[in-house]
Amino acid sequence: MRRTRQASSCANREIDSIARDFLRRRGPACVVHLGCGLDARFDRVDDRQVEWYDLDVPEVIALRRELLGDDAPRYHLLAGSAFDQAWFSAVDAAAERAFLFIAEGLFQYFHKQQVKSLLVALRTHFPGAELVVDAFCPWSSTATTCACGSAAWGCAITGE
Ligand SMILES: C[S@@+](CC[C@H](N)C(=O)[O-])C[C@H]1O[C@@H](n2cnc3c(N)ncnc32)[C@H](O)[C@@H]1O
Repeated sequence: MRRTRQASSCANREIDSIARDFLRRRGPACVVHLGCGLDARFDRVDDRQVEWYDLDVPEVIALRRELLGDDAPRYHLLAGSAFDQAWFSAVDAAAERAFLFIAEGLFQYFHKQQVKSLLVALRTHFPGAELVVDAFCPWSSTATTCACGSAAWGCAITGE
């Protein structure tokens, strides 16, 4: 349990650092955090230019509004499933910006085919965007080993 928390907090810091680097390289940018939970990454990495979207299922977004507050200038909450492409049009307002998608602690709960379909749709709809995810090694049954990585579209999405 302790190691799981350590891995998760390392991943959290690493993804903050990847997001800051993206904002330095490609800002003014737009970041979409898929499955944001109660994470406060916007407050940690805000470069005062980014348009930021935190997306989660409606129950979690309602809880966020209650505990952490509502939308603010350059900060937006989206209620819905990451896998329902309805949210794509909500972020189109920032279409002229470079996009970074963050999926931390999300994809491991879904089937490979579902994740792959979302990635293909993101690549098609947001050419030039970048993605950062955390990934757990399949051989680590206790899920304590975690690696983060970012990729720009252009890498092949293969597999079943
Ligand atoms: C393990 S938590 C990670 C939260 C946050 N990213 C972090 O690292 O602190 C997984 C989050 O994914 C959200 N989630 C689950 N299914 C989802 C879906 N279909 N679309 C968007 N978010 C989803 C959950 O509500 C939860 O907030």
